[in-house]
Amino acid sequence: MKHESLRDLATRRGLWIGCAVEPAQLHDDPACREIVTREFNCITAENCMKFDALQPERGVFTFDVADRLLDFAAEHGMAVRGHTLVWHNALPAWLKERPLGRAEALDLLQQHIETVVTHFKGRLPWWDVVNEVIDDGFPGYRLKHNLWYRAIGEDYLELAFRWAHAADPASLLFYNDYDLQSGEQKFGRTLEMIRMLQARHAPLHGLGFQFHTMPPDAPSQEAFLARLQRVRDDLGLVAHLTEIDINLSAALDPGELEQQAEVYRSILAAAMASGNCPVFITWGVCDKYTWVRRFTEGRRDHPLLFDKNYQAKPAYYALCDLLRSQAG
Ligand code: XIL
Repeated sequence: MKHESLRDLATRRGLWIGCAVEPAQLHDDPACREIVTREFNCITAENCMKFDALQPERGVFTFDVADRLLDFAAEHGMAVRGHTLVWHNALPAWLKERPLGRAEALDLLQQHIETVVTHFKGRLPWWDVVNEVIDDGFPGYRLKHNLWYRAIGEDYLELAFRWAHAADPASLLFYNDYDLQSGEQKFGRTLEMIRMLQARHAPLHGLGFQFHTMPPDAPSQEAFLARLQRVRDDLGLVAHLTEIDINLSAALDPGELEQQAEVYRSILAAAMASGNCPVFITWGVCDKYTWVRRFTEGRRDHPLLFDKNYQAKPAYYALCDLLRSQAG
């Protein structure tokens, strides 16, 4: 029997299965490009839609790289997730040169969001509007004192959602963060922030679970299903899995690939059972290009569905088997 790709199986099941990718990986690496188009029906720009990439100089917007990514996606019938409008990282040097006053910061943020969202209008069904703003080093709920918070105060958050919504009313708008998949603390603080935004009627439609973790820290399928149900029942939001990587040791001990496969399988099983999580995106195409090695100073590795030689891993087959058993 012909092997059906992950993409075929997911599409048939009404799911979006994707990966983060850099345009250069698509243009310069045919093996990588082949995996992306064969196995995924959506992509996220790993870096090329971040603030510093789109507005490297004040008032000068550069869309050509991101536009090429969108053209590629359109040519191959893939959806694109916008990532990200508000983040404390990937800010251009000019923005950080001196402290900003409130009026100036409001102008800059509004101009950035309006220009970017308008440019991509109608082409991005989902936007990570705000990324990683909860201060998890603080005992209790608090927003990170990032550049926007310092200059504007906490209302920058609801304004960001309003500006994005006004520029493209059809795009679903997300709050996206890490460490939401298990443990109560970060998730609870995130609920608190989202309730604050909802009380102010900010146009927020979804919660993005980045899901950077390791097998021993991953939630059980039941626990994660319960969490996805809370997103719907307590907040009335849809959930997306936005940046999955399941890190293993750099040395790759025996059994780790199978543990990883089971984590991937159980996340997708929970997402499907919840009926509230139609998007499942891994943070990279294959282990050759993962950000994890650099981020963890080489202590962790092998987080994705394809290895450094572009070969499918047990996790890939586990997802295919699950989808096949459910695809009807
Ligand atoms: C990472 C990219 O993968 C790296 O290439 C870049 O150097 C730093 O950013 N959370 C996010 C992503 O929301 O944007 C980050 O991406 C990974 C963590």
